[in-house]
Amino acid sequence: MSESTIDAHTTEFGYFDDQQKEYVITTPFTPTPWINYLGNDGFYGLISNTAGGYSFYQDPKFRRLTRYRYNSVPVDTSGRYFYLKCDDHIWSASGRPVQQQPEKYECRHGMGYSRFLVSHQEIDSELTCFVPLGEKAEVHRLILKNSGERHRKISLFSYIEWCLWNAEDDGSNFQRNLSTGEVEVEDGVIYHKTEFRERRNHYAFYSVNQPISGFDTDRECFLGPYRGVENPVSVEQGKATNSHAHGWSPIASHHLEVELAPGEERTLVFVLGYCEVAKENKWQSPGIINKAPAREMINRYKSQYDVQKALTALATHWDTLLGNFRLNSPDPKLNRSLNIWNQYQNMVTFNLSRSASFYESGIGRGMGFRDSNQDTIGFAHMVPEKVRERILDLSATQKSDGSAYHQYQPLTKKGNANIGGNFNDDPMWMVLSTVNYIKETGDFSILDEKVGFDGDVSEEPNHFEHLRRAFEHVVNNLGPHGLPLIGRADWNDCLNLNCFSEDPNESYQTTQRGKSDVAESLMIAGQFVLYGQDFVQLCIQLGKRDLAHNAQQQVDKMREAVLAHGWDGQWFLRAYNAKGEKIGSHENKEGKIFIESQGFCVMAGIGIKDGKARQALDSVEQRLATPHGIMLNQPAFSTYDKHLGEISSYPPGYKENAGIFCHNNPWIMVAEAMLGRGEKALEYFASISPAYLQHMQQQHKTEPYVYSQMIAGNDAATPGQAKNSWLTGTAAWCYYAATQYILGIKPDYAGLIITPSIPAHWPSFVVSRRFRKAHYCIEVNNPYGLGAGKVQLEIDGKAVAGNLIDYAQFSGEHHITATIVQS
Ligand code: BGC
Repeated sequence: MSESTIDAHTTEFGYFDDQQKEYVITTPFTPTPWINYLGNDGFYGLISNTAGGYSFYQDPKFRRLTRYRYNSVPVDTSGRYFYLKCDDHIWSASGRPVQQQPEKYECRHGMGYSRFLVSHQEIDSELTCFVPLGEKAEVHRLILKNSGERHRKISLFSYIEWCLWNAEDDGSNFQRNLSTGEVEVEDGVIYHKTEFRERRNHYAFYSVNQPISGFDTDRECFLGPYRGVENPVSVEQGKATNSHAHGWSPIASHHLEVELAPGEERTLVFVLGYCEVAKENKWQSPGIINKAPAREMINRYKSQYDVQKALTALATHWDTLLGNFRLNSPDPKLNRSLNIWNQYQNMVTFNLSRSASFYESGIGRGMGFRDSNQDTIGFAHMVPEKVRERILDLSATQKSDGSAYHQYQPLTKKGNANIGGNFNDDPMWMVLSTVNYIKETGDFSILDEKVGFDGDVSEEPNHFEHLRRAFEHVVNNLGPHGLPLIGRADWNDCLNLNCFSEDPNESYQTTQRGKSDVAESLMIAGQFVLYGQDFVQLCIQLGKRDLAHNAQQQVDKMREAVLAHGWDGQWFLRAYNAKGEKIGSHENKEGKIFIESQGFCVMAGIGIKDGKARQALDSVEQRLATPHGIMLNQPAFSTYDKHLGEISSYPPGYKENAGIFCHNNPWIMVAEAMLGRGEKALEYFASISPAYLQHMQQQHKTEPYVYSQMIAGNDAATPGQAKNSWLTGTAAWCYYAATQYILGIKPDYAGLIITPSIPAHWPSFVVSRRFRKAHYCIEVNNPYGLGAGKVQLEIDGKAVAGNLIDYAQFSGEHHITATIVQS
């Protein structure tokens, strides 16, 4: 069966179309809104399968263009909507919000665009929404076609609702905001200029490339009093009111009369754009905004040919990006995951961190320090320049003692003071991101870049010094067992061992009581050994031998501390609490075993020689693995315990309290693959990866083409039910685990290392990988059914010793054969 036909039409909600790199949704009524992301360079749109969602420029909090009501009833009722009225029928070009259902509906989410195909009353519409490359605008191309035999007159209404820029203020400060909204309408273009009169040098607009019959800019006039977006009065009456918003809630709606002869087709181009103007050039005339930049932008998409060109450029862009890695394995679902959707999600999580999704409101969290560093490992092979810039941005939010702000705001690139730092795993993630970036690109110059600490430009050390201080921060913050102090929390934001909160109005993340000099983390200990070794290797590459030697001693000491105080008999402990008591031990009543320390200690190689690593992973399988993925801990905490913090606040089976927190599952996949147990690693991969879960969409609920942050665990009332889709470290980590550890194609300083750990029954697989100056076609053969072991390499037909493809020797196209043999 070819890739594009597997699963076709087999579920009640949709299917993959791999040829088009699309997920096709066949009903507006998916279990949750199934969304896509538009844009990849500053201007972004979130778009659901019925065109719900919103758009923003750079920062979803400070530059929100359109309004979205989280928590709305019914769900997902703000978006870019097109209403069609013909004879007495009214419907939407995206299936909702009008309640009358079109006869035919389909939504195709693709790489950077979403397309809606609707047919009703012999009128076909095709709406394509996308952000052209490098543009600060969302383009909505609407093609209308009369597929019947009668002459038809259609009344078409566009609709978006402006957000007053600061999304948090927009949703709370009504006493001011209901008075500030301002618009202009000129040549059929609706301009949103709220606060332009004061400190803003930017505005937004919504245009259409054909003459309009009317418009509305005031929500109440368009919808009618006490009515919703499902049945606007203007649409019902077939006539816009030409309203001008003065405060209240400004919107942009164009009204067009479209006449179509039988078989005739018309293309309309709408542009939702964002413009910045120089302060001295703000006004065209008193009170009238300078529209020159808007006109230029509108001009770029004035015809359907311009739009088609931009769409083709976008498709080529994605083909090139995805072309850096391509797998052909005996498992078509793995191919689909890695070749298309996993890489696509990597880009989205890289761009947005954990800021804006249908679960992250865009006003709370900026870019997470640990999250953003980890996201780079799924993206460095795609757009390394952006990864470089991101790492340096993160570096600039590090403090001089090596600690880091937990988050920063993308617009200002400054650390968020309201959340602060003291999440003691944060600093070492920057070693991972930097080392992974250098191994991918060979660009050591990133280490020489001058970066101030916490925005301080008076002292400008280089980026390497930032890594050194990250390393030192762990060494300088050790607890009674010589293990790293946990601070507010480590990777698990909800294991708050120094919080002791009894006040429901207090944040677990920002509250810290006492000296915090007792509670220690085995997760950070494993992380330090793992990335500490990377730091040592980096020092060696740079010829910093003394530093390497000293760092190695610290790493060795930490390994000893883990073996002396972190082994519980059958698995690694999770932590010591503020009273010095064990967490994640067989001695505990609940929370006897946790996933994070098993993943990190084994990835760091601790206990590989003496069998502890194997034992730890066997314990994970026996105690934590479920058909839906690996649970975070067991048994779940049944009651709230202030000495543990937020983790025990969740009902058992959800989130960090024994949920399947997908982000950490790939750590176990890596660990299993390192031990040569590729079959198990792939089994874990399949248990949480969307391509394998098509048969359970109703139960799973979230988008069946991307990872979710969490799947409910065995203790939950709804095991297997996912939440918080899209923005999760699962994407980067699953990609990293599968490509670098299961398939075993691992970039290193000198070249690509080939160390596969695949299911024994796979005869072979082929990866096409662009790496530095060359493009390699790597064929891995497994003729003895071993799955893992030693490899024998042939490069362009010539046998080569070892398992390294030395990149210095190659450019252009090369064919590699790697045969797995007994080690
Ligand atoms: C956060 C991560 C954190 C994880 C586990 C996620 O929501 O973005 O930073 O590591 O939760 O608590």
